[in-house]
Amino acid sequence: APLHFVTLLGSLRKGSLNGIVARTLPELAPEGITITPLGAVAEFPHYDQDVQEQGFPAPVLTMAEQIRAADGLIIVTPEYNYSIPGVLKNALDWLSRVTPQPLARKAVALQTVSPGAIGGARAQYHLRQSLVFLDAFVLNRPEVMIGQAMSKFDTDRLELTDQSTRAYLTRQIAALADLAHQIAPHKSEDV
Ligand code: FNR
Repeated sequence: APLHFVTLLGSLRKGSLNGIVARTLPELAPEGITITPLGAVAEFPHYDQDVQEQGFPAPVLTMAEQIRAADGLIIVTPEYNYSIPGVLKNALDWLSRVTPQPLARKAVALQTVSPGAIGGARAQYHLRQSLVFLDAFVLNRPEVMIGQAMSKFDTDRLELTDQSTRAYLTRQIAALADLAHQIAPHKSEDV
């Protein structure tokens, strides 16, 4: 069966480098894998248990359902001050309270992009830590930390131009597909 992955983006700005990567993933996916974007994390209010107890905001429930229905999730995010952006943490905090919790036993791949040298590695390891509590199955390797981003993108045309980065992303998507098949073996029977 074909696999379907969804992407969650941790940056809100129009010219986001991470956004360029997220939007490029569908064309980099191996045969038989479709990738579509989730809604913007900005649609979620600030997490507040009082609000939750009056009923989850519609965008939270919609995203939770889209993640549950997907075979895997790809989180693409900048690093802010050596950690993950507050808007992304807020989204994970909301999603973590929905039952059934959508990230539990979900195949998840992480991607970070930065103009800096180490490509958001620190944020990625903070993100992994939160995903342990959510019982997500986070892909170990290959790790996608796209550093020195200014030499790899055309920021006027909003394109990821670096060919080896594009090929590396394709490899990670294929690895996520392998992980998804290990988690749900029935999916691979009729491939
Ligand atoms: C940054 N940036 C940054 N980069 C990095 O590698 N490590 C870091 O800790 C931080 N910290 C940080 C904090 C804040 C508040 C901002 C706004 C930026 C730089 C960041 O990587 C750069 O702005 C990226 O272009 C942001 O990603 P998008 O929006 O282009 O996807």
